[in-house]
Amino acid sequence: MNSTIENLLNNQIKYEATASMQYLAMASWADANGYNGVAEFFYAQSEEERLHMTKLVKFVNERGGKVSIPLLEKPKGDFNSLNELFDMFLSSEVFVTEQINHIIFECLQHKEYNVHNFMQWYVTEQLEEEAMARTLLDKLTIIGDEKAGQYLFDRDINVIARANENQE
Ligand code: FEO
Repeated sequence: MNSTIENLLNNQIKYEATASMQYLAMASWADANGYNGVAEFFYAQSEEERLHMTKLVKFVNERGGKVSIPLLEKPKGDFNSLNELFDMFLSSEVFVTEQINHIIFECLQHKEYNVHNFMQWYVTEQLEEEAMARTLLDKLTIIGDEKAGQYLFDRDINVIARANENQE
């Protein structure tokens, strides 16, 4: 495997791992603050990101590349509001999308068509995750500081997230 691509895939392993631990911290904050629906949502997102990471680890190994399991920075664990939480969720997904687009670009430059093909799964996944993060943040912006709205958001978050998936 081309060394530039190998490095980029190792970086991506780190970004997926970072997202997984960040979402776990977000789930835990929501759990501790009475937002049980939001907690369940982020526990599940954390698991998903872990799968994204593992899929990359396995792929690099299958292709004879060298995987480097990274040391991670401590995730942010305190939030002032649901808005701040979901703002971070969207920023994190936008960042991951940018990195994936960069890998796709470099795959074409280095004629790594197998990796390019493999990464298409991530392109589709990011499209869905970014759209979902945007929808949820839009709903929270409408709700603002209104407690009753936040209560309903927490109760219905999984329905809102699934409805978004069905629109894809
Ligand atoms: Fe796997 Fe949502 O980035």
